[in-house]
Amino acid sequence: MTRVFSGIQPTGEFQLGNYLGALRHWVVDQHEHDSLFCAVDLHAITLRQDPAELHQKTLEAIAALIAVGLDPETCIIFVQSHVHEHAELAWLIECTVAFGELSRMTQFKDKSARSDAHISAGLFTYPALMAADILLYDIDRVPVGDDQRQHLELTRDVAERFNSRYGETFVVPAAAIAKVGARVMDLQEPQSKMSKSSASMAGCVQLFEDRDSIVKKFKRAVTDSGSEVSFDVENKPGVSNLLSILAAVTNSDPESVANEYDRYGDLKVATAEAVLEVIGPIQDRRAELLADPAELSRLIELGAVKAQALAGNVLERARSAMGFVARP
Ligand code: TYM
Repeated sequence: MTRVFSGIQPTGEFQLGNYLGALRHWVVDQHEHDSLFCAVDLHAITLRQDPAELHQKTLEAIAALIAVGLDPETCIIFVQSHVHEHAELAWLIECTVAFGELSRMTQFKDKSARSDAHISAGLFTYPALMAADILLYDIDRVPVGDDQRQHLELTRDVAERFNSRYGETFVVPAAAIAKVGARVMDLQEPQSKMSKSSASMAGCVQLFEDRDSIVKKFKRAVTDSGSEVSFDVENKPGVSNLLSILAAVTNSDPESVANEYDRYGDLKVATAEAVLEVIGPIQDRRAELLADPAELSRLIELGAVKAQALAGNVLERARSAMGFVARP
């Protein structure tokens, strides 16, 4: 059976891009593959974080993963820092990846350009930790949005290089990036991807936002000149983004959806309604889970135990391949 791994940072609020580009695919994957899904709290401290917020957001992230439809009995849902092997393998990988390779990562360039004077070393080595997350579990398939493509390519390079230098150790994983919804754009700036760390939240639809506010954001979405509803990313980025969102939530394709609408206004309302239909039950389920902290803790522990049981094998293989002495 193929093995699947993916992760999400427990920072800010999950947004529609996270759901359409990643989470909804994980829900399908859990039934078809051995799957692990992780709230990557170690990644969340690469930018300065507030301790109370990190704590709360990590609990909310696990609740949200279950609320979108991941079943803790079917797949493994866990908190990254609960399995210390992630950090340990990351160090081994940091010592095999090149400074130049990390310097070329576009996410590092973007994030370091946006952050203040203090840029942590962890922000720079972030992709080595991400590679460790994946390589630690002999993963074949990594379902992610388009923005993670470069990190996945680096992970493959790291694995291949390690295997040729030290002998077959890691499974070389493949990115699984969907055709529709892998790059959801900001509703106000359709040239930029929707992101939970955007300066303005006006174009970012959060999964746990008030329903009226979601409708308003869609109604105010920037559309393009002309009035014809057609899928043309180059010339009609705003309308094309709405078509992609509507297609993703209704399991259709943007071109077919475009044929059903004549006016921008109708498309906006239909997209908002379709999104709310999907998000509504997710919001209710997360609220129920957060209202029962004992059950949430039990599920977090269940995931940690299951992930921990798998994590040791590959780390030991990597240690031995590199020449570390095993503890007698
Ligand atoms: P993160 O937390 O930024 O995002 C989680 C997932 O959501 C996808 N995504 C999007 N998809 C479509 N449109 C968007 N606008 C959009 N915004 C975000 C992301 O591509 C991602 O799949 N580095 C990762 C977390 C990570 C990870 C891993 C992922 C750590 N270790 C190992 C896979 C495997 C990140 O920051 O994702």
